Amino acid sequence: MDNKTLSDLTQKALAARSNAYAPYSRFHVGAALITEDGQVFAGCNVENAAYPEGVCAEAGAISAMIAAGGSRKIATILVAGKGPASCLPCGGCRQKIREFATQRTCVLVVDEDGKQLFKDDLHALLPASFGPENLETGTDKTSS
Ligand code: THU
Repeated sequence: MDNKTLSDLTQKALAARSNAYAPYSRFHVGAALITEDGQVFAGCNVENAAYPEGVCAEAGAISAMIAAGGSRKIATILVAGKGPASCLPCGGCRQKIREFATQRTCVLVVDEDGKQLFKDDLHALLPASFGPENLETGTDKTSS
């Protein structure tokens, strides 16, 4: 990814982070993804008084991508949390990203100033994963 794209993703994730609704954890997160056809979508975490109903920033960015109706292939997803520890996607978000990932999908984490803390392929974060193609061979066609 070129520097301009990285800077754009970082700015959009930080802008979304500034709108995060996180009154319970006070941990604000933003995410921005770029699809294989170059569209950028962002999201932030949205918590809820019924705690388990809160949603992560990555989920918001993915919803925006799907709602837009274009490419559903994530080239890179960047998460902006608060350093110094990396705000790595949780297990549930890794699986949500996996649904729309390619073999090359990249995950980046930055801190609240946009400083890069982590970069690797989704595959490194979710090896031997389950995805849509597993259902194609695993569906029991005799039971329908
Ligand atoms: N959170 C995200 O939005 N993305 C992550 O990658 C990790 C955690 C949110 C969930 C919750 O609102 C807050 O951060 C604290 O866990």
